Amino acid sequence: MKVTVVGAGAVGASCAEYIALKNFASEVILLDIKEGFAEGKAMDLMQTASLNGFDTRIKGVTNDYSQTAGSEVAVITSGIPRKPGMTREELIGTNANIVKSVVEQLIKYSPNVIIIIVSNPMDTLAYLVHKVTKLPKNRIIGMGGALDSARFKYRLAEALKSPISDVDGMVIAAHSDTGMLPLTRLASRNGVPVSQFLSEEQLEYVSQETKVGGATLTKLLGTSAWYAPGAAVSALVQAIACDQKKVYPCSTLLNGEYGESDICLGVPTVIGKNGIEEIINIELSEEEKAKFKESASAVREINKALDNVL
Ligand code: 2OP
Repeated sequence: MKVTVVGAGAVGASCAEYIALKNFASEVILLDIKEGFAEGKAMDLMQTASLNGFDTRIKGVTNDYSQTAGSEVAVITSGIPRKPGMTREELIGTNANIVKSVVEQLIKYSPNVIIIIVSNPMDTLAYLVHKVTKLPKNRIIGMGGALDSARFKYRLAEALKSPISDVDGMVIAAHSDTGMLPLTRLASRNGVPVSQFLSEEQLEYVSQETKVGGATLTKLLGTSAWYAPGAAVSALVQAIACDQKKVYPCSTLLNGEYGESDICLGVPTVIGKNGIEEIINIELSEEEKAKFKESASAVREINKALDNVL
């Protein structure tokens, strides 16, 4: 499989690295607008191949989309990351124009590509990609829920004092500090509801820390995180490449599901060779339904900013 990663910053490079480490793709094209930058990152990564035991060829290119031709999956990480104190939503003005031009060029060379959007504000940019490309909805995947769920599991395991591999849980709705909806009601410790081990207050703490997971890291690092975002993207690419039919919450165009339409929002999906192959409907509680609705309204407000781009 040929995969393109647009943006060779920390998230893009980490994503290329994890894809290579898992050794399921034949080729990764890493593209950046900064002269020589992607070439440098690709060369550095390729020099780890004999040490880390992978055969994936990583090739860096400076803004040459012809090199991406025939990609089956493309990951968009381009744009500016947030700085401490910023919300993802504040990036819309800059990132919408960048993502629009990136997808237009990608589609020109890879008409059958499945696109994974990582750039922020992710739900709004996934919606923009739909409007710009008019691709079938299964081929546009917003990466947020897979990352947020990994952060949720990290916080749950910390509270439970259990190994992360014993924990299961999912975060749906918007990939934003206030709009995320960690489904604590359905989270489990090896099949046992976490509410059996954690109090309401502890669950509320876990939820809150999950929601500000990205902001906490941005404050510590001075820029937004890259290891977990890169790992989450590579898991989605692997699910497509290996037709795994794995369930990940992803931002997808809703058409009545969860009571919403004409919006991209995180819901549980089945990921396989065709991208988003199914949306799984979960019966939400009244409180969860209200939170989902509130999250959708906030994303709709941000989507209005796209009127200047479309
Ligand atoms: C994050 O939450 C990149 O939005 C991403 O770290």
